[in-house]
Amino acid sequence: VDEQRFDAIVVGGGAIGLACAWAAARRGLRVCVLERDRIGAGATWAAAGMLAPATEAEFGEDELLRLNLASAERWPGFAAALGDVGYERSGTLYAALDRDELEALERLRALQSSLGLETEWLSGRDCRRLEPGLTPHAAGGLRAGDEAQVDPRRLVTALAAAVEDAGGAIRTGVEVVEVDAGGAATADGCAFEGAVVVAAGCWTGSLVEAPIRPVKGQILRLRGERPCTHSLRTDRVYVVSRPSGETVVGATVEERGFDTTVTAGAVHELLREAYRALPEIAELELAEAFAGLRPGTPDNRPRIGRLAEGGPIVASGHYRNGILLAPVTGDAVAALLLGEQPDVDLAPFSPALAEAVAP
Ligand code: FAD
Ligand code: GLY
Repeated sequence: VDEQRFDAIVVGGGAIGLACAWAAARRGLRVCVLERDRIGAGATWAAAGMLAPATEAEFGEDELLRLNLASAERWPGFAAALGDVGYERSGTLYAALDRDELEALERLRALQSSLGLETEWLSGRDCRRLEPGLTPHAAGGLRAGDEAQVDPRRLVTALAAAVEDAGGAIRTGVEVVEVDAGGAATADGCAFEGAVVVAAGCWTGSLVEAPIRPVKGQILRLRGERPCTHSLRTDRVYVVSRPSGETVVGATVEERGFDTTVTAGAVHELLREAYRALPEIAELELAEAFAGLRPGTPDNRPRIGRLAEGGPIVASGHYRNGILLAPVTGDAVAALLLGEQPDVDLAPFSPALAEAVAP
């Protein structure tokens, strides 16, 4: 048996595993990332890259919101240290396209102000002034000027390079079949020794006890002139447009197990709803239709921490916000590996509380 020894073995080379590995390597630990496919091949490859704590906020998710905000604050420094990952503070415009949507948006605004989030209420005309491509039917909107976006594919490429620059190792095409607190065994018979971090996205449950399930998201990539600069959202679709000429239209939320089929119905629906908001998208090239699997949990909160005293660390279940939550998760996991108290309260996200916090 080929034995390999590190301070930490990270299972999974998505945004979360790589952020954990980078944070640990920067703090002087010898880390190794084991990824069975290629870097970023999981949910991360699908992600739009919105860093949107306010406009993703839901009723009853205060703990998650706090963690999202803590991570959003870390993003400027995180992005600056990685180089060009497409980080842009472009703001989000949540637009209502008819009266029903306007009422729903008023409820979201009430929720946001009850949570102390700063957003700006705009008339339909003001929305069009900000985003001239928006349909004349726009009845009003909510602007979160602080929200940002990043390109998740560039992010994982940069993170992988940063892990290696910091002395870490990355092994792709290596499937982990078993873990315990002190190491991981791979499908090809290798044993890796070190403290284990399981960051295997929606597949985490195949390695450790965790209430994590796949939630399918179909998403489109269009190419051509930028149809909007803000991340644009309605009740039914979001559009994230980058200076690079890529425009992302997302996304479905489907309970379909591990199925990643792209369906005609989903493509139709996403394009119809994006067109309803931004008619100009009809002129863009349809470059890609893709499906990814979000790591969902019963309460939509991630699971970050030790499974049990002295057990492996879990960093998974980031559901709709794994790109946003990468910096704070990386910092927290690095602290745990070093035996320190993380600088955010992980109690609401403990994998040990897995079932107890289920609604
Ligand atoms: P993954 O990216 O799935 O990575 C897990 C990795 O583990 C995979 O690469 C997999 O191959 C590997 N792996 C699994 N099992 C093993 C094993 N046994 N051995 C070795 N390797 C293994 N989040 C945002 O913040 N903003 C967004 O705008 C956004 N948009 C999204 C849009 C869509 C359509 C989807 C699907 C998700 C979106 N998300 C977004 C959510 C985000 O993508 C996820 O929360 C995040 O990517 C999770 O990262 P991860 O590293 O935990 O999982
Ligand atoms: N956060 C966007 C999505 O998960 O589709």
